[in-house]
Amino acid sequence: MRIDIITVLPQLLESPFQHSILQRAIDKGLVEVNLINLRDYSTHKQKSVDDYAFGGGAGMVMTIEPIANCINALKGQRNYDEVIYTSPDGEVLNQKMSNHLSTLTNLIILCGHYKGVDQRVRDHFITKEISIGDYVLSGGELAAAVICDSVIRLIPGAISDETSALTDSFQDGLLAPPVYTRPAEFNGWKVPDMLLSGHNANIENWRHEQSMERTKLLRPDLLE
Ligand code: ADE
Repeated sequence: MRIDIITVLPQLLESPFQHSILQRAIDKGLVEVNLINLRDYSTHKQKSVDDYAFGGGAGMVMTIEPIANCINALKGQRNYDEVIYTSPDGEVLNQKMSNHLSTLTNLIILCGHYKGVDQRVRDHFITKEISIGDYVLSGGELAAAVICDSVIRLIPGAISDETSALTDSFQDGLLAPPVYTRPAEFNGWKVPDMLLSGHNANIENWRHEQSMERTKLLRPDLLE
């Protein structure tokens, strides 16, 4: 898989890919992530990538020219499955969407900034708009990092114990069951006997029941 992230703040996105599962996935060659500085595609002397909004109003708008130059240059080199724009008014990211994205080959993620991009970018270049939740971030970079994290960990081989990704919360539409580790007792607080029983089938049933109970209690909307 290849992910090209177009951003005005490439440095902000360096760290998320330099640790843990994402770094390992990159090192193993499972995914290639490229941080592309949008300013490199600006033809202005000052390398500007934004301008005042037509019709007035506060806030700057990302201009179409550098974005078109950048996306066209990338598309000239390979085909892309999706050109994603991070925006609070996009479709809200969920596990199903991440699962689907993890099966694709080439993605572009354009990070929104300021008041957003010129609408013509969305109309003519973007194939999918994704929000990571109903709140407004200062820019799309952290949203892009969240999308990449949720997608990359699903690529086979990214997580050493592959069943681990499948037992995550949401993966089967339920929240994950509670987990415990040693010591078996702390301050008189005991680990449920079932988990110490060594009976795998019963443990799996118990975990499923716990998942159902947690989901009913905390996220009943998931069961509707
Ligand atoms: N940019 C600003 N807020 C955002 C959000 N909630 N999701 C995705 N991109 C954003």
